[in-house]
Amino acid sequence: MPATREGRPRRYLTCEPRFFEVRYAINPWMRPGAPVDTALARAQWQALVRAYRDHGHTVEHVPPVPGLPDMVFAANAALVLGGRVLGSRFHAPERRPESAAYELWFKEAGHEVHPPRATCEGEGDLVPVAGRILAGTGFRTTPEAHAEARALFGVPVTGLRLTDPLFYHLDTALFALDDENIAYYPGAFDPGSRALLARLFPEAVLATRADALAFGLNSVSDGRHVFIAPGARELIGRLSGLGYVPVPVELSELHKAGGGIKCCTQEVRP
Ligand code: ARG
Repeated sequence: MPATREGRPRRYLTCEPRFFEVRYAINPWMRPGAPVDTALARAQWQALVRAYRDHGHTVEHVPPVPGLPDMVFAANAALVLGGRVLGSRFHAPERRPESAAYELWFKEAGHEVHPPRATCEGEGDLVPVAGRILAGTGFRTTPEAHAEARALFGVPVTGLRLTDPLFYHLDTALFALDDENIAYYPGAFDPGSRALLARLFPEAVLATRADALAFGLNSVSDGRHVFIAPGARELIGRLSGLGYVPVPVELSELHKAGGGIKCCTQEVRP
């Protein structure tokens, strides 16, 4: 019998894909001009919001801004930890104006936002777990931004190097299952980072390339329920066997921009 997992209600910040389209290509998933069904993207995103609420989570929204099609990927806007907010500084010029729109929301919600000096894409590359922050680099967020996160949050920051452009953000290759453990796809990392992860997380759930390509590592867990792409079949099976409760949510239309469930979800940690 697998262990019964305890979940915890979370507060999530999201942004409706009202102006979603693929107009530029800043990762290998994006094909500008490929048909995108914005109505379907909105319906899939609404189903994600419903799934969160049905499982006891609070969901808030940042108003979408016309001309910022990637604003739906709320995870990239900040890292919020212990009530402190590290804002974002996007690598791609196309996404830079998103930072101000999210900053406004955080300010109105009573949070002071610390803008990073270096390129920093929020929870896309910064994953808090086990008393530290796992910090991706290689494509977007820089080691200088990792140092800024360490200074602001006062917790150890473990740098991890991503090497496969398909997995350009840490959250496309790794997610926190609960306060202690993670799931990840080792093939997305350089050998040093793989060794580090194996040492820090001996109990980690290892996912296959097929799971990763299906956006299965771009999942959100409340410690019990794992909101996950239905295409990540092996990983879903493995998580069920460990006592987690997978909640499949299809975001196929958003995959066309290189994003999935976690990308659409900013966790506001108290
Ligand atoms: N098109 C967006 C980009 O390339 C997708 C971001 C996905 N977000 C994420 N947290 N991985 O920046």
